[in-house]
Order: sequence, then structure tokens, then C-alpha cells
Amino acid sequence: MDSVTITDNRNGQKIEIPIVDGGVSAEEWSKLLPGIWFYDPAFMTTAAAESSITYVDGDNGILEYRGYPIEQLTQHSSYLEVAYLLLNGELPTTKELELWTKEITYHTFIHENMRKRFLEGFNYDAHPMGILVSAIAALSTYYPDAKDISDPDVRHKQIIRLVAKMPTLAAAAHRYSKGMPFVYPDNSHDFPSNFLSMVLKTPESRFDAHPTLVRAMDALFILHADHEQNCSTAALRVVASSQVDPYSACAAACAALYGPLHGGANEAVIRMLTEIGSLENIPDFIRAVKEGHGRLQGFGHRVYKNYDPRAKIIRSIAYDVFEVTGKNPLLDIALGLEEVALADEYFISRKLYPNVDFYSGLIYQAMGFPVQMFPVLFAVPRVAGWVAHWSEMIEHHTKIARPRQLFVGSPRRDYVPISAR
Ligand code: CMC
Repeated sequence: MDSVTITDNRNGQKIEIPIVDGGVSAEEWSKLLPGIWFYDPAFMTTAAAESSITYVDGDNGILEYRGYPIEQLTQHSSYLEVAYLLLNGELPTTKELELWTKEITYHTFIHENMRKRFLEGFNYDAHPMGILVSAIAALSTYYPDAKDISDPDVRHKQIIRLVAKMPTLAAAAHRYSKGMPFVYPDNSHDFPSNFLSMVLKTPESRFDAHPTLVRAMDALFILHADHEQNCSTAALRVVASSQVDPYSACAAACAALYGPLHGGANEAVIRMLTEIGSLENIPDFIRAVKEGHGRLQGFGHRVYKNYDPRAKIIRSIAYDVFEVTGKNPLLDIALGLEEVALADEYFISRKLYPNVDFYSGLIYQAMGFPVQMFPVLFAVPRVAGWVAHWSEMIEHHTKIARPRQLFVGSPRRDYVPISAR
């Protein structure tokens, strides 16, 4: 029998709960044990959603979007095609892809006031991720129609706007934090080329990035597009469950991505590699980590207990990029660290392997992005995953997220006047 039986030892009552799709229903549990809550603060053993978007098998290092292996998508597809796949469940036909690409391409502009009044209100040295989080939230004020989340056409429009405007906002945040003038989208470019043009263009009238770098950017976008119930997507689902507009929900997700344990880890990797400085310092660094002084950034994952398949692909992309940009001098330290860690009992016993962030920063840095932009580069494509989950949860009529707590505070007591304390 694929089921579990729970016995309430206080009264001998039992309930048998079937195991369905790898989970047991908490609804069944609460029939037997009303008022007894699962204590699982970091959702370590809680499935908070049913989803058909992304499949991760952490023990075997497998990642699939809608059933398609990430290795095949990275090799043969494009970010825009993958975004369509995540949202619609199927790869587009030629006609569908043409229409989707056209829709995205013609929504890349942001309102002039967004640039002139909103973005220019930030301090000159504002972190671009802080700017991006706020800018996504601010979009809700430009599109009040977005509040009507029950209308599928309205939802589609916001999805287009979010996917299309993320590169523009990200590039604007970067340019502003560097004191450089805003670059308007150029709709004659494809999606990744347009992004690189908005980020890197100086005085030339048209900027064409090297094709290898465009391809690398697109592949990195594919690799970061979704990762099922990660911290930022979980944040999106909780916030969106209140039926707020998708801009506010994506801003919350983006804020979660800002953290050093999530999208900020690739920034932390570069700082760590720079601090290590040379190969001979690796043993001391590893020793310090094992003694509890900091973490090996870019290693370990809540779900992957094997090599993160994205890290493998990113490592090979790095070599292509370095052919064009020249080798990032930190690469040797990264390779040395990986070799030492993968042979060390501490990391082996805890199943700690390189994750998506271990090598991505090296590529971004070689392409000329400052470290502050790394989480922004993660956020640009992750919006496809956020809006795919948003669509799915609305179609599933998800209830408002409202966990319970185990109260461990003071029992009831009477107020004491300040003079008597
Ligand atoms: N370096 C050294 N020890 C580690 C590391 C690490 N990077 N990661 C986990 N451990 C140890 C940890 O100290 C603990 O040891 P012990 O059992 O002796 O106390 C054990 O491994 C389990 O760690 P945990 O913190 O309970 O695991 P978690 O699932 O809560 O955390 C993680 C997952 C990704 C937050 C963590 O591995 C980490 O902090 N890694 C470094 C930051 C990083 O690379 N984050 C990017 C994650 S992937 C992309 C993304 O999600 O955005």
C-alpha cells in the first residue's frame, strides 16, 4: 500500500493517508489531529504547491523545465522560447514564437517618468538590485489595470510587460549606479543582444555584442529562468496569494533574491575568490570554513545533494566566454577550491557540491559586469519563472497563504504600570 498510517497515542485513533505524487495531504492529517501543527519553519519537508512547471531531482542532479532536460534547452533553445515553454507548458510553433517575440519586443520600453522621476530619485551609488526591487514595485502604479487578476487577457498583458521590461529596468539600474546615461531599447536586436546593448553601449549608434557573449548571456538566462519552489518563488507565491497585482508580488520575489543565501551568492563567490587571492591560500581557507568561520560560497544547496546540473553547464560556458574576453584570473582559484572541496570528507559527508552561483560570477565579471549587478542578472530571466508560477497558482485558485505557529511566549499576565516595573 502506498500510504502512511498515523496513530494518535492519546486515544488510539488512526488514520491512513495515501501517498500521492510523493506527498501526504495535510488536510487528511488535520482531520485526525485538528490543532496539531507540523513544525517546519524553513519548509524543509513541506510541499507548499502542486506544480507542473519545473522538475528537480536533487539526488541525481536533474533539472527539467516542463519535462525538457536543462542540458538540451541550453544547447538548442533560446531564453524567449524557454519563457514561453515555462508559461504555456509546450514549446511554441514557429508562428507562436514569432508572435510571442513580437509581443515581448514591443513592450521593452519603460514610461519616461519611470526613468526621469523615479530612477533619478536614487542616490548616485545606489545598489542596482535595490533599484530593481523598487522599480518592479513601482510598475504597478503605471499599470493599475493589473489589479484585475481574474481576467486572463489582463494577466497575459502583465506577463508580457514584466518579461519585456526586466532587461530595460536592469540595464537602467546599472547605468544609473555608474553615472552613465540611459540607453533606450533597440527593437532591431534579439532579446539578449538588446540587453547587452542597453548595458554596455557607449557613444556608438548601435552596439553589437560578440556573438559568443550573446549566446552565453542567453544560455545563462535559460539556466536561471526557473527553479521550482526556491526562496524567491516561494515569496512570490505567498505574496501573490493575497491577490495583489503581479508587479508587487514580483518585487517581493526580487527582494528575496537579493539575499546572500539566494541570488546574492554569486557576488559572494567573487568576493571570496578575491579574498583567497592565490592557490596556496586554499588549504587555510578550507580549514577555516570547516572550523565554522564562514561558508564556501557557491557550494551546497537545499535540494541538490549532487553536482548542480546548471553549474556543470556554466563551467563549460565559462571557457567559451574566456576565449573572447581572456581568462578570468580567479578561475584557477575556483577550480582549485572545487578540487579540494570535492575530495574533502567535510564536504563529501554533507553532500556539498558547486551550485549555479559558483561559476556564473566569473563569467559576468569577465563580460564586464560589476559584482553588484550579479543578482540583477539572476533576476532578469527569473521573472519568467515567477510569472509562470503566478499564472499556475491563479489557475489553481490557490488560497491565501497563512501558516500557523507554535506559540512559545509568555502565558497571559496583567499589565504592570511603569512606576511598578
Ligand atoms: N560551506 C560550508 N558548509 C556548508 C555550506 C557551505 N557552503 N553549505 C552548507 N554547509 C554545511 C552546514 O554548516 C551544515 O553543517 P552541519 O550539519 O555540520 O551544521 C550542513 O552543511 C547543512 O547545511 P544547511 O545550512 O543546514 O543547509 P541548507 O539547506 O539550510 O542551506 C544553502 C543551503 C544553499 C543556504 C547553504 O548550502 C549555503 O549557505 N551555501 C552557500 C551560499 C550559496 O551558495 N547559496 C546559493 C544557493 S543556490 C542558488 C540560489 O538558490 O539562489
